[in-house]
Amino acid sequence: MGLLLENAKAFVTGGGISVGRACVELFMKEGAQVAFLDIREDRTKAVMQATGALGYVADIADRAAVFAAVNDAAAKMGGLTVLVNVASVMEGGRVVDTTEAQLDRMFAVNVKGYYWATQAVVPHMLKAGKGSLVQFGSVAATHPGWGESYGIVKASQLALAYQCAMEYAPTIRSNAIICGWIEDSPASRLLQTIPEIIAPIMADHPMHRAATSAELANVCLFLASDMSSSINGETIVADGGQTRTQGNLNALMQKMGPLFAANPDLVAKNMRNLAAVTPDELMG
Ligand SMILES: NC(=O)c1ccc[n+]([C@@H]2O[C@H](COP(=O)([O-])OP(=O)(O)OC[C@H]3O[C@@H](n4cnc5c(N)ncnc54)[C@H](O)[C@@H]3O)[C@@H](O)[C@H]2O)c1
Repeated sequence: MGLLLENAKAFVTGGGISVGRACVELFMKEGAQVAFLDIREDRTKAVMQATGALGYVADIADRAAVFAAVNDAAAKMGGLTVLVNVASVMEGGRVVDTTEAQLDRMFAVNVKGYYWATQAVVPHMLKAGKGSLVQFGSVAATHPGWGESYGIVKASQLALAYQCAMEYAPTIRSNAIICGWIEDSPASRLLQTIPEIIAPIMADHPMHRAATSAELANVCLFLASDMSSSINGETIVADGGQTRTQGNLNALMQKMGPLFAANPDLVAKNMRNLAAVTPDELMG
């Protein structure tokens, strides 16, 4: 078998780290031309330098900036045939605790941002006569953990995948992926630094471990490539069986709430630490 993405022209949002970066690297290895965007300039530069992919520093919530990046990439690469939306933010907590500003930001990035990138890329796919849209979601959409208001916006990404599956097939296939914890992502490091939380959850997890970005990029590759040519309007659950174990979710619900309630500064403190994590530390 030849390369899986020979002649493909891919655009990845959130390509600066973890799953997004792993997609950029893997898609190039499989023969695609690849462009990506990320809000972080340092991460964007690091990935451009390491891979030679075309990078754009942009906020996915900014419709004009997304269209500018997508159209420029299509002009430089001679079209677009693959979109993987990964750029995401997780803010807020329980429904009663989440502020309007936090909710607005989650909608701006996770709902409208995914929508803008899709809206910008679809015309290029229609012009190319083929395409694969991949929306990267979360098990929070279907199996919420304690204080995970973010599941509300992650659920909308699945609806976007299904909507496009109806509107643009057979030219374009449109699917989603939901995953559980990602071992090498800043967001899940927050919890991995707290053994009281991670130990009981991983004990109950069928695989006893989270997925790596590289493993999840493989699932994106499958959906992006013709290997999945009969799959449209589907969600692949790549969580190692996490959502099949009620015990795991119980551990989350029982351990996270009281722990955070007893340590109100814990999340804020860890978030500040994570903001300082460099791409090299995570991906090196
Ligand atoms: N981390 C987890 O354990 C986990 C669990 C389930 C699902 N997910 C999902 O997996 C995907 C990757 O998660 P992650 O935790 O590695 O993500 P992340 O927080 O590391 O963000 C991914 C990239 O998106 C970029 N980004 C953030 N906001 C952006 C914006 N407004 N515009 C452009 N780029 C932006 C970040 O700079 C980062 O490089 C996300 O869609 C997330 O919702 C993550």
